[in-house]
Amino acid sequence: MVDTIVLPPVDAMTEAEIDPTLDLEAEIERLKREKNAVILAHYYQDGEIQDIADFVGDSLDLSRKAAATDADMIVFCGVKFMAEVAKILSPRKTVVLPDHEAGCSLEDSCRPKPFRHFREKHPDHVSVTYINCSAEVKAASDYIVTSSNAEHIINQLPEDKPILFAPDRHLGAYLNRKTGRDMLLWPGTCIVHEQFSEQELIKLKVRHPDAPVAAHPECPESILGHADHVGSTRTILDFVIQSEADTFIIATEQHIIHQMQKAAPDKTFLAAPGADGSCNCANCPFMALNTLEKLYLCLVNEVPGIHIPKDLRIEALTPLERMLDLSPPPVASASQRDAA
Ligand code: 13P
Ligand code: SF4
Repeated sequence: MVDTIVLPPVDAMTEAEIDPTLDLEAEIERLKREKNAVILAHYYQDGEIQDIADFVGDSLDLSRKAAATDADMIVFCGVKFMAEVAKILSPRKTVVLPDHEAGCSLEDSCRPKPFRHFREKHPDHVSVTYINCSAEVKAASDYIVTSSNAEHIINQLPEDKPILFAPDRHLGAYLNRKTGRDMLLWPGTCIVHEQFSEQELIKLKVRHPDAPVAAHPECPESILGHADHVGSTRTILDFVIQSEADTFIIATEQHIIHQMQKAAPDKTFLAAPGADGSCNCANCPFMALNTLEKLYLCLVNEVPGIHIPKDLRIEALTPLERMLDLSPPPVASASQRDAA
C-alpha cells in the first residue's frame, strides 16, 4: 500500500503544548486568514467542527469545493479518502487532515492488490467504485461515484456492459435494485450503517407512526425497506428540511442531526437504534478522531498532510474526472452555509 500521509516532525507542537487559556475558535479563524486556508467539513464531524467550517457537505459537494477553491491550504475535516480526493483534484494546494488515523472501514475492506485481482478475474467488466476507497483503488477503477451520483452515472453506462461495484455491498445491492443492473459486488460494509437493527427500528416506528425514516444507502436492505427517503447525507438533510412532518427517524451517522437541528429547530430527530436499542452505534469512530484541538494543530503545523506520488495521482484523477463530468449539476441546498 502506498502511504499518502505526511506525519508531524518530532519538534511539531503537540496537544499537550496547547495553551489551555487559548480561545481555540478565534485562533483557528486567525490562522485560517493568515495562511489563506479553507476548512471543509463532512456532516459526520462533531458539531463544533461543523460550526467553524467554511463549508459543510456530502462527499460529492466536498470534492467539488476542493476542486474549485482558490485557498492555498485545504483543512479537510473528514476522513483520509476525502482528503486524498482533495489533493488529487487540487495537487498544488497543501491538504491537511486533523488526525492521520481517520480512515474508513470501507477503504480497509478493499486493499489495492485483491481489488486488482478482482478486476483481472473479470476483464470484460468495467469497474464503478465508491469514493470511499484508497487512491490506489481509485487508480485501478474506471469510474468513481458517491452515494449522490451513483445511480445517475450507472444509468449512463451501456446496458449490456457488465459492471463490478466496490467496496460497499449494501450500496451496490441498492443500486442494483434501483437501476435493474446485476453488478458484481465487492463484499465490503460500513461498520456504522451495518449496525442499525431492523427490530429496534420497527419498535421505534410503532412509537412514532408519523415519523418518516430517512436512510443512507450504506444501510442493509432490511433497514432501507423501511425508509421513506434513501440518499446521500445532503439529500437526507434536504428531505427533513422540506418535509412537512415534525419528527424523523435518521438512519445514518448521527452527527448530521446537528445540521438538522440548526436548519429546522422546531422538528424532532430520532437516531435509528442499534441492536441493544441504543443509538451509540451511529457514531463513526474514524470521523470522531478529529477534534477542535487537532484542527488547530494541523493549521499551526501544516501536517498531518496528504502527499500522493505523481503517477498515482494522475491515474486516480482520470476516474474522478469522469465522475465530475457525468454527475448531475450541483444543487443549491437549503441547509448549506457556504463561506468557502
Ligand atoms: P455521503 O457521500 O452521503 O456524504 O457519505 C459519505 C460516507 O462516508 C457515508 O458513510
Ligand atoms: Fe467510512 Fe462508514 Fe465512517 Fe462513512 S461512516 S467514513 S463509510 S466508516
